[in-house]
Parts: sequence; structure tokens; C-alpha cells
Amino acid sequence: MLASKRILLIIGGGIAAYKSLDLIRRLRERGASVTPVLTRAGEEFVTPLSVSALAGEKVYRDLFDLTDEAEMGHIQLSRSADLVVVAPATADLMGKMVAGLANDLASTLLMATDTPVLIAPAMNVRMWEHPATRRNREQLVADGITFVGPNEGDMACGEHGPGRMAEPLEIVAAIEAALGKGPLTGKRILVTSGPTHEPIDPVRYIANRSSGAQGTAVARALASLGAEVVFITGPAEVPPPDGVRVVRVESAREMSDAVDAALPVDAGVFAAAVADWRVAAASERKLKKSKDGLPVLEFTENPDILKRVSRMGEGRPGLVVGFAAETDNVIEHATAKRARKGCDWIVANDVSPATGIMGGSENAVTLITDAGAEEWPRMGKDAVAERLAQRIAAALTG
Ligand code: CTP
Repeated sequence: MLASKRILLIIGGGIAAYKSLDLIRRLRERGASVTPVLTRAGEEFVTPLSVSALAGEKVYRDLFDLTDEAEMGHIQLSRSADLVVVAPATADLMGKMVAGLANDLASTLLMATDTPVLIAPAMNVRMWEHPATRRNREQLVADGITFVGPNEGDMACGEHGPGRMAEPLEIVAAIEAALGKGPLTGKRILVTSGPTHEPIDPVRYIANRSSGAQGTAVARALASLGAEVVFITGPAEVPPPDGVRVVRVESAREMSDAVDAALPVDAGVFAAAVADWRVAAASERKLKKSKDGLPVLEFTENPDILKRVSRMGEGRPGLVVGFAAETDNVIEHATAKRARKGCDWIVANDVSPATGIMGGSENAVTLITDAGAEEWPRMGKDAVAERLAQRIAAALTG
């Protein structure tokens, strides 16, 4: 709940501005008051009338509007809120924030405020991936600005990739977390993610195709509900999320040690694709071609981290969630895996090539609990993560 919280909402100029109308409604439903600020470009996408009608408050638009200054100066406006939210945050607004420009009402408020700031970027995928935006994002994170999104998916411009503004309910969750109101505030959760690399010699290793996308999305979703997340990641393709403690590891054994070091936790989510075996005696020196023929690699089993943690007596997390990637008889195999490992839940997915899930942006999940198997509709990996995070919050706080 956000009862009596005051949000200053800056709506920038992007097609996602229409979602900010829904955001206003969702915030007010939860008891927050919303003071809206609409940029000139924002007015091209939503009207001041619809914004003020939904907010139930005057919409502020112009730095030099003397009536505004008489009612509430821009300094006071920027400081009277509990949180400043920028949604959508355009590439232009991010650039202005980094450069410290103050040439319109929105940028001046962002310069003048002493209140925490949360931004929900939205832009074309190329703009989001442009080196300038990447630099700006890094600088804003270093300046203490909190981010929610952007998400990956189809964009209004017809392209696909990261750049979609986070959905209104995700922004609400991020606002709650920023205000210390998230349902997972005070809970400590560890998440393992990504592949592991098992050395053969100093230059070669055995790996798998995990990108780390699903584990990263889960960690992000848990953090946005207010959890303190320890994110233990193998060498993944996708960068770790903001707002989590990142522990980087290479091998299964390093991951296992990092998990032990992270305990005690309220919940553990084991999304990593841990290599089952490693080379028994990895060579200290690079293996050379030799006349004696091909090298013979002997394997030995890696520690099963999920099983070990699930079967811990004292110190076992209250909730242990494993993942199972299967190619056939998904429910049957995943149910057996849950029993074998001793974990509370298994998030199972079908990774047979026909599904296009492995390496893709979508997932079709069956959640196996002691109550049975629950099939979730096919959805984006971010959406799977949010739903799972909500379920974890319900289990830990219910
Ligand atoms: N896991 C783990 N440590 C391992 C292997 C797996 O913690 N050494 C965890 C994974 O993070 C995942 C779950 O166990 O949450 C299932 O992983 P999976 O590779 O599907 O299971 P396996 O034990 O390898 O079973 P199988 O080979 O029969 O599919």
C-alpha cells in the first residue's frame, strides 16, 4: 500500500506515455497522491486534460507559468514528494539528467530535487543500446538514480529488443520497493544464474548454452519487490540487474562456495545451469598436441548445489526453488526431480527445439509444488520472473 505517499510523476515524450495514465490510476488505487508533470513532448502523446483528470490534480507543464510559481514554486514542487518518478524516461531526459541541464520544468525539477528518483526508460532498441545511452545509464546509476526496466519485447516502432517501458504494475512494485514498502522488504534471497565454466586447462573449458536471462529476470523482479538479493552468477551473456549484490563465479564448485557464503537467506532460487561434471584433473598447463594421440578427459561429478541446500537441516532457506529444463515428459520428469532434490518448488520448462524457448525471450513454465503442477501460459521471461517473484512474496509473507 502507498497510503499518503506523494509521487511527483514526470511524463516524458514517448509512445509509452499512454501507460503512464494507467500508472496514475494504479498509484491512486493504492492510496498514493500523484502530482503530474507533462513535458512538451509528452503532450504530443497524452493530453494534459486526461492526465489531470486521472491524477485529480493540476498538471504542471511550464517552468515560466507564473500561476504555478505563485501556487507552488518549482523548488517546492520538486521537494514536496516522497519520490520523483520519470515514466516514460526518454533518451533525451536521461541525457539532460546526466548533463545537469535545466531548460524546462521537468529537467529543472530533476536538478532541484533532494528526493529519491526512479526512472522507467522507454525508447527504440537502437537508442537504448547506443553507447551514449549506455554511458548515461551507468552515470545515472552511479548518481543514485533507480531504474525499472526497460523490458524486452516487440516495440511500437516494429522492432524487437530491450526498450519497452516496464508495465504499470512493475513500476508500482518498484515505487513500493523504493519507498521501502515492497512485500519482500527485509527478506534476503539468493539467486543462482547463468552457466558454469569447467576448466580443461588454463585456456579451455566446458560450458553450456545458458544465457542467464531467466535468472537475471528473477533477481530483478525480486529486488523490485524490495528483497535484498544476492545474485550468484556464472559467466552469463546478459548483464546482471541493478540493485542486487553480484557475486561472480566461474565453476560449479565456486558457485557452491558462494552459495554457502550467502547463507542464511529466507529463500533460494536456483536458476543456474550448473555443469553436472567437471574434468577430474584439469591441467595446470595448456594441453599440447602430441604424437601420443588425443588427450583423454576423465570426468568427476560436481556438487549438486540445489540438492545439498534443499537437504540442509539447520540453516535451510525457508523456501527453496529449483529449475528444470526438460525436453520430454516435462511434468513427470520435473515432479521426480523435485522429489529427488528435496526442494519446495520446481519451475519446469520445455526446452525441446520446437518450442524456441532456449535462447529465446519467451518461456512456458509449469510450477510444481506440493499442491501439484500448475501450467502457466507462454509469456516473456520478464513476465515469468514477475509472476514467480509475486508467488515467492506470497509464500514468505502469507
Ligand atoms: N543444480 C544445482 N547444482 C548442480 C546441478 C543442478 O544446483 N550441480 C540445480 C539447477 O540450478 C536447477 C536444478 O538443479 O535448479 C535442476 O538442474 P538440472 O540440470 O535440470 O538437473 P540435473 O540434476 O542435472 O538432472 P538431470 O540431469 O536428470 O536433468
